[in-house]
Amino acid sequence: MKALVLCGGHGTRLRPITHTSAKQLVPIANKPVLYYGLEALRDAGIEDVGIIVGDTAAEVRRAVGDGSGFGLRVTYIEQEAPLGLAHAVLIARDYLGDDDFVMYLGDNFLVDGLTEVVDRFRATRPDVQIMLTPVADPSQFGVAELDADGRLVRVEEKPRSPRSDLAIMGIYLFTPVVHEAVRSIKPDPRGELEITTAIEWLLEHDARITSHIVHGYWKDTGRVEDMLECNRLVLEDLETRVEGHVDERTDVVGRVVVEEGARISGSRLVGPLIIGADAVIKDSYVGPFTSIGPDCLLADTEVEFSIVMERSSVLGVRRLRDSLIGKDVAIKPASVTSTAHQLVLGDHSQVRIA
Ligand code: TTP
Repeated sequence: MKALVLCGGHGTRLRPITHTSAKQLVPIANKPVLYYGLEALRDAGIEDVGIIVGDTAAEVRRAVGDGSGFGLRVTYIEQEAPLGLAHAVLIARDYLGDDDFVMYLGDNFLVDGLTEVVDRFRATRPDVQIMLTPVADPSQFGVAELDADGRLVRVEEKPRSPRSDLAIMGIYLFTPVVHEAVRSIKPDPRGELEITTAIEWLLEHDARITSHIVHGYWKDTGRVEDMLECNRLVLEDLETRVEGHVDERTDVVGRVVVEEGARISGSRLVGPLIIGADAVIKDSYVGPFTSIGPDCLLADTEVEFSIVMERSSVLGVRRLRDSLIGKDVAIKPASVTSTAHQLVLGDHSQVRIA
C-alpha cells in the first residue's frame, strides 16, 4: 500500500504566509504540520509516499528530502496547477500503479494517527473508505449523507444547504478502481477535478464505499485560527525540557521547552510553550500556547497564544495574542519622535491594532 500526500494547492486562506511558503510547512509546536502526517503514515506501516507538489515544490523537497529521515521512500509528483484533489490522483497514476493507497491532504492534522484507519481498510478492503467527522460549518467541506443504516448515499462538495453535518476528512483510502473514476469525471465550474465528484461517480457505479464517523480531533489547518488551535493542542501534551540557558532573573511557570542555544533573560515564561534553538528572549513575557521559532529575537515584548516563525524579531510590543507571524518578520517600535504606526506589509497581510 502506498500513500499520496497532497502538498500543492493555492493556500488562499492562509495568505500572506502562503505567498512565500508552503502551508504544509507552517510549524505546529515548531514542527511542520506535514511532518505529523508523514510520521502517522509511517506508523501505519506505509513505506512508499508520493508527494504532490506545486509552486512550493522546492521548499517541500528541502523539508522532506528523499523521506529517509522519516523512514519513508518519497517520490515527488509535480502538479502544473492546483486543478483539484482528483486531478492529483489522475497525475499520480503511473506512480500508484495498481496499488491501494491512502490519499492524505498535507495540511491536515489529526491526533489519533492513521494506524487504525489503515488496518481497518486492509482487513475489509472496500473499494473506497472515507472518514467523516461532525463539524459546525459543513458548507466549507465535502459533505456526506448517510441513510438510516449508516450507508453512504450521497456526497456533495461545499453544499449551500448541507444535508448533514458530516464533513469528509482529508484521509481517503482507495483501491485502483478510483483511477477510472478520476478519468471519467468532468471539472467543476471553477475548473477543478473534485474528489467528491469522483466518489459520487463511484457511488453511481456501485462501488463498495465505507465511511466511518470519527470523533477524535481532526483539523484542516487551512486558516490561521486552525493553525493556532492545533498549536494549542500539541503544546497541551508538552513535557518540560530545558536545553538552552534560562537566567536566574527569569520566572518559569508550567511546562516549557527551551531548545539548545536559546537564551532567556529577565523574562516570564508561562507554559505550555516552546522556544526554538538559538532564540533570544529578553525582558519579555511569553505566555501559554505559544511557539517561538528558532533564531527569533523577543525583547521588551509580551506574546501569548501565538506562533512566531523562525528568525523573526518582536521588540517593544505589548501585547501580541492569537497571532501567526511568518519568517524573517521584524516588528519594532517607531522612532521616539513618531506617534504614528509605520507598516510595511505584503499583500493580504492582516493587522489588528489595539
Ligand atoms: P485545499 O486546502 O482544499 O485547497 P488550497 O490549498 O488551494 O487552499 P485554499 O482553499 O485556502 O486556497 O487543499 C487541500 C490540500 O491539498 C492542501 O494540502 C493543498 C493540496 N492540494 C493539491 O496538492 N493540489 C490541488 O490541486 C489542490 C486543490 C489542493
